[in-house]
Amino acid sequence: MAEKINLQKIGVFTSGGDAPGMNAAIRAVSRTALQKNLEVVGIMGGYQGMIDKDFQQLTPRAMANILQRGGTILKTGRCPEFHKPEFRTLAINNLKEAGIQALVCIGGDGSFTGAQLLYKEHQFPIIGIPGTIDNDIWGTDLTIGFDTAVNTALSSIDKIRDTADSHDRLFIIEVMGRNSGFIAANVGVAGGAEEILAPDFPMPIDHIINRIQDARARGKKSSVIIAAEGEKPGRAYDLAEQFRKRANLEAKVSILGHQQRGGSPSANDRILASQMGAFAVQALLNGEKDKMVGIQAGNIVLVPLSDAVFNEKRTPEHLLELARLLAM
Ligand code: ADP
Ligand code: F6P
Repeated sequence: MAEKINLQKIGVFTSGGDAPGMNAAIRAVSRTALQKNLEVVGIMGGYQGMIDKDFQQLTPRAMANILQRGGTILKTGRCPEFHKPEFRTLAINNLKEAGIQALVCIGGDGSFTGAQLLYKEHQFPIIGIPGTIDNDIWGTDLTIGFDTAVNTALSSIDKIRDTADSHDRLFIIEVMGRNSGFIAANVGVAGGAEEILAPDFPMPIDHIINRIQDARARGKKSSVIIAAEGEKPGRAYDLAEQFRKRANLEAKVSILGHQQRGGSPSANDRILASQMGAFAVQALLNGEKDKMVGIQAGNIVLVPLSDAVFNEKRTPEHLLELARLLAM
């Protein structure tokens, strides 16, 4: 049994890349906590707000009308100082001075690495909620924002398909995904891609060219390749250049970019965020300290933060294979 503390005031913050549904999670954390007679403080701009003492008291009314909004009302950001232990100590001192006894961190694996250090070094209770469009966090089937990002990208891909078809063209469409190809794999299947390129399943360029040429030989006149950006956003241009040089194949490039991070969250993301936010507060009240909220096979669960941070969640290879099978 986790040891309970007499919890009176908690802090909540968003960190790393924003994701649609973060506001729904903030609302759920705040309103659940307020229902349980806890005070809630919003920490602005991620870890930077802890260093700068940028704290705002959250009220039920401050949460009105944010459920359907993209982005994050608490702002987010990247805070390089947080990699240094002295700044983490300063952050903890500032939190304690403000009477904050525990934290809910809404972010990705980088944010959880920082969160874990706060627990390891200062035993500060902290619960993570996975919020990233990349869906690359181990221990949860889904992260907040992924469903919306997939639908946003898909609606653009459908439009590009129309013009690819009208002009008999080959398109390379680059989607987000630094370390994993979840968005690519999902929109690839849903959008009928010829080939999906994921960072963790590299494919020789000649192999891709052969597939396009085989498709053309079968009479296929337009094709779409979906490429996750990987470490180098803009790689789709390099690919197109290789196609031209090696096989005299003309490919148009479309980079979907940050539109995938914005917009109103889907119903699924709002529901997921609401469930996870409420669960995170209850976990803190139960004395949990160093965990992430996840969803596994439809159930909301708690996973050790260290497992979420240190394990790798790979792109679902079966979806890459399915897209190939169905692209005739
Ligand atoms: P995400 O949470 O979306 O993966 P980042 O990787 O950019 O985003 O991480 C967000 C923030 O978390 C960083 O700017 C930094 O403040 C903190 N962070 C990331 N990695 C570490 C680390 N190894 N040690 C301490 N803080 C970290
Ligand atoms: O939020 C994750 C992510 O969308 C990655 O897929 C992408 O590489 C990265 O954020 C880009 O974020 P930024 O432009 O904020 O550095």
